[in-house]
Amino acid sequence: MDREVFQERFGILGKSAEIRQVIDKIMQVAETDITILMQGESGVGKDVTARAIHALSHRKHQNMVIVNCGAIPEGIIESELFGHEKGSFTGAHEARQGYFEKANNGTIFLDEIGDTPKNVQVKLLRVLESGEFFRVGSSKMLTTDTRVIAATNQDLWKLVEEGAFREDLYYRLDTVKIKLPPLRDRKEDIIPIFRKFVSEYSAKYDSVFRGFSDEAKELLVSYRWPGNIRELRNIAEQLVVLEKSQYIDKETLQKYLKGRQKEGLTDNLPIVSRSGRDEAGNRFTSGTDTDNELIYRALLELQNDMGDLKKMLAKFLYSTFSSKEIKALPPAVQRSIDPNDINTGIYDNLSTSPSGGHEELEEDIEEKNPVQRFFENDRIPSIEETEKFLIEQALEKFEGNRRKASETLGISERTLYRKLDQYDLA
Ligand SMILES: Nc1ncnc2c1ncn2[C@@H]1O[C@H](COP(=O)(O)OP(=O)(O)OP(=O)(O)O)[C@@H](O)[C@H]1O
Ligand SMILES: [Mg+2]
Repeated sequence: MDREVFQERFGILGKSAEIRQVIDKIMQVAETDITILMQGESGVGKDVTARAIHALSHRKHQNMVIVNCGAIPEGIIESELFGHEKGSFTGAHEARQGYFEKANNGTIFLDEIGDTPKNVQVKLLRVLESGEFFRVGSSKMLTTDTRVIAATNQDLWKLVEEGAFREDLYYRLDTVKIKLPPLRDRKEDIIPIFRKFVSEYSAKYDSVFRGFSDEAKELLVSYRWPGNIRELRNIAEQLVVLEKSQYIDKETLQKYLKGRQKEGLTDNLPIVSRSGRDEAGNRFTSGTDTDNELIYRALLELQNDMGDLKKMLAKFLYSTFSSKEIKALPPAVQRSIDPNDINTGIYDNLSTSPSGGHEELEEDIEEKNPVQRFFENDRIPSIEETEKFLIEQALEKFEGNRRKASETLGISERTLYRKLDQYDLA
């Protein structure tokens, strides 16, 4: 198959020398059984490439199992990968096949391999070298014939140096390394790929795209694209939908580019500007400043954490207590919860935002409920304390049913497992 046919078939866009080299390498190794390590930033196409490799291989009619090693809680990753026997740990009611068994004769894609815990890395090394593995709780050796494609957006060698990744596994994976270049290192691809996305979305949304000013085009090319092709695709879609029939100038485009709009350090922050007066009393506005950015980043992260926590709190409170009980909570807590944070429709009886002082209502309620006790005296607990408390309450309410608890808290079951581990609640 020649390169263009391959690109067309798997929707891999780009004509730069960088991407051509990568594709040639992929085509050389795809049909073999060789282990492949893909490295590249978020959104460069690791997933797309892994699927293309499997689809080109002689294993294409067998399973391709995709595992995100970073998303599986440490406590269960071994049994997810290698399976377990009945009764091998609490909750193992049935024997279960692991991903390596499911991928027998096919391909396993180990995404975010750098996040695999070290005790599991030893077992991965063994299965990579000899195909041998054990289900958790079993001493019977099993074998699998699985082609491994691994991916990471971290610097694996750095993890080795830091002691977080086994050196022997690193070398085993490193046989064929495919480095997918970030978009900013193949600038000539930006406009053609963007055009392709725009024409796809214009057809999909039956919309007309009028084009760009020269300055806007320059910005597209000089932008860092921290989210790479995924970000480019999203922006093309947004422009087609939201700026329908508008001619795109630089200012319009700027609104859609979230990362830094010039080349520089690897980050993804809006530009922070400082203004003030210099010694002579003249006004000045300066551009970015590393300290400012660090602070800004920390604040953004904190804000996100707080936002998630507030949602969790609101969901939990409204599903557990009556509006009267909620009104009895300390004002600081009430101010921090917004009924809009909960799914609309379910709690229609609570259309007004809870308000009112805690003193006047205290007399209505004799016994304090756990939430009131937790926030006693208008105390502001730490985020971690609150999170732990909410998880405990939800589990208690649903008698340990983790699915229901996680649904109520608005988090995934996986996240709940991870938190149980983190807070030693298991
Ligand atoms: N070369 C490419 N041509 C066309 N589309 C691409 C290309 N590379 C990536 N994409 C598109 O970009 C998006 C992200 O790609 P993909 O999920 O493969 O990235 P990734 O490297 O696995 O990212 P992450 O590290 O976040 O998992 C997808 O919509 C994909 O279709
Ligand atoms: Mg991916």
